[in-house]
Amino acid sequence: MKLQVESFGSETEWARGIADRWQERLTANPALRHCLAAGLTPVRIYAEMLRRVREGSARFGDARIFLLDEYGGLAPDDPGRCANMLRRFLVDHLDLPPSAFFTPSVDAPDLDAACREYDATIGGGFDLVLLGIGTNGHVGMNEPGTPVDIDTHRAGLHVETVTSSARYMNHDRFPTWGLTIGLRPLLAAREVWLLATGAAKAGIVARLLAEEAHSDLPASWFRDHPNARLFLDRAAAGDVLA
Ligand code: PGA
Repeated sequence: MKLQVESFGSETEWARGIADRWQERLTANPALRHCLAAGLTPVRIYAEMLRRVREGSARFGDARIFLLDEYGGLAPDDPGRCANMLRRFLVDHLDLPPSAFFTPSVDAPDLDAACREYDATIGGGFDLVLLGIGTNGHVGMNEPGTPVDIDTHRAGLHVETVTSSARYMNHDRFPTWGLTIGLRPLLAAREVWLLATGAAKAGIVARLLAEEAHSDLPASWFRDHPNARLFLDRAAAGDVLA
């Protein structure tokens, strides 16, 4: 396994440690092309980066941000849409030009065309990808069983993923599908950070560290990525790193 594992004593130290590395990457390459996840896991990292932007120690003025995935069937202004979450927690408060934030067109009549268009926009790929991990091992909406060579596509959500989307919604019309960047461009990224915090993720983290790469555990493909890191807080690390 090439995946490098780093664990931190608390979620606060975890967020600071990751933000330190992110700030270094941006300093080395101000035009960094990011793929960023919505969801709850990265929220503290985003808050830490915003603090650094306000202080003047990090800047996104020349960067690009691509949204990892988006739910279908929700109104454009639904606060649970991934783009709206990422805007609320990060993008709206950055020094990033609005034209440098890219999202897949989940409301388009022709979703296949929307996916091909997003792939074309992604073009040369990502310098840095931040991914949460679902409790079933998904990354983005690449659910168990997703082919490893897939580009942006329409994905049906597993029951467990539908249920866990309730955490983001202020209603109970939970999404059952979405558009997601596929495993191929995620695996082609120059650097990938897998993020997990809290005891609820300890089980999937233990599986990720124990099992060979296979399609029933999409996050496991990153075990063999040449430049991937798994960042854990103490609770998500559980007993595996003790
Ligand atoms: P979370 O979601 O960051 O809200 O836990 C991760 C995921 O399900 O992909």
